[in-house]
Amino acid sequence: MNATLERWSTRRAFILAVTGAAVGLGNIWRFPYITGENGGAAFLVLYVIFVLLLGLPAMMAEILVGRAGRRSPIQSLGYLAGQAGASRHWQLLGLFGAFTVFCILSFYSVVSGWSIEFFVTAVNGGFTGLGAAEVAAGFEGFLADPGRMTFNHSLFLFMTMTVVAAGVAKGLERLNNLLMPMLYLLLVLLAGYAATTDGFGPALAWLFQPDFSAITPLVVLHAMGHAFFTLAVGACALMAYGAYMPERQSLPRAAGAVAVLDVSVALLAGIAIFSVVFSQGMDPGEGPGLMFVTLPIAFAELPWGSVWLSLFFLLLLLATWTSSINLAEPMVATLQGRGLGRGKSAAVVGLSVWLLGLLSVLSFSTLAEWRPLFGMNAFDLVTTIPTEIFLPVGGLLIGIFAAWVMPQQEARAALGVSEPGFLLWRSVVRWVSIPLAAVVLAAGLL
Ligand code: PFF
Ligand code: NA
Repeated sequence: MNATLERWSTRRAFILAVTGAAVGLGNIWRFPYITGENGGAAFLVLYVIFVLLLGLPAMMAEILVGRAGRRSPIQSLGYLAGQAGASRHWQLLGLFGAFTVFCILSFYSVVSGWSIEFFVTAVNGGFTGLGAAEVAAGFEGFLADPGRMTFNHSLFLFMTMTVVAAGVAKGLERLNNLLMPMLYLLLVLLAGYAATTDGFGPALAWLFQPDFSAITPLVVLHAMGHAFFTLAVGACALMAYGAYMPERQSLPRAAGAVAVLDVSVALLAGIAIFSVVFSQGMDPGEGPGLMFVTLPIAFAELPWGSVWLSLFFLLLLLATWTSSINLAEPMVATLQGRGLGRGKSAAVVGLSVWLLGLLSVLSFSTLAEWRPLFGMNAFDLVTTIPTEIFLPVGGLLIGIFAAWVMPQQEARAALGVSEPGFLLWRSVVRWVSIPLAAVVLAAGLL
């Protein structure tokens, strides 16, 4: 065992850290727009099924490997493979995870930068009295301005790497603790307000009355990718957090709590956003701008709208911050594992991610028509391929490693539950999750 590693101070702190990683843009920004693009309720049903059958068991597998290895992801994989007499090449899975989070963080930072911009605008009352068309035009104007977008992207990445360089501080743990409930409360209020608009009925119908004829293999692939993304699973990022897990804690219970929180935040955001979409006669398939256009419109109608809107973007920013720290951790841990200092590692990672992020920034202006692969521009590529292919592939391999390759007595101990609980988890991973992920990947890609 590696005695130098820190531990989360309490079980609660561990759950909060994983919740911080899980709840972010995936719930409030990505879930509504991707559900809108993929036909609504049928997509939602698939996504919930994938969370239960794939995301949750894979989340346990991933954290379990970190907890059993008590090292950085690459080292844990190598160490446990060695214990089992398996190939050391399993370390490459950790490297693949680092590459995945590298791509994801590059656009995550750009979009979180949009929240900074919107927060500042809202604080200055910049949305007051604007109608739907004006809000939409304002957003278009912002996207067409690479300078402003680069500024916000840089700021967000700087905020992220500073915290990572310092180590995941107690301060952030506590801040998260205080603010996540506020974000939740605000979402409940917003959904409550949505219930009073005439878009509420259509929004519920859109979200909860599935039309299964809308399902294609590609829609299924999108839903699977989103389940991994929203739970932060498949890139070894939670593996890094698992290494700091307290000795006596039930992993399934912790993971279950995180999944419930994560899905309910997405549902609340979906209800709020689609009510506005339908009451304003907007298009649910609008794409990545969906949340940034609907929320200012909704809040404009409320008393104290600017105050609520500012608060909302502030809390969203904090939620994305706790996710981006988790995204950066596997890369920094990798460089550190190669002997680079933590501060230097954070600087190298920050700079590389910043550069890749510029491609996303420019995808809305100068490089909008540059489509290097599959007819997609750079932003479309980094928001889809890593999420929908790399995360499921990573999750699949992590599942194989945890349920077949690593020493099973260590897996049992790291899951932290009784024997029947362990066998249930392992059967689900072996006979449900792994085959399901393989089939969906094959069907979606071939
Ligand atoms: N779960 C985060 C969200 O929903 O915004 C995104 C994420 C974090 C994905 C960490 C992957 C990851 F490793
Ligand atoms: Na999420």
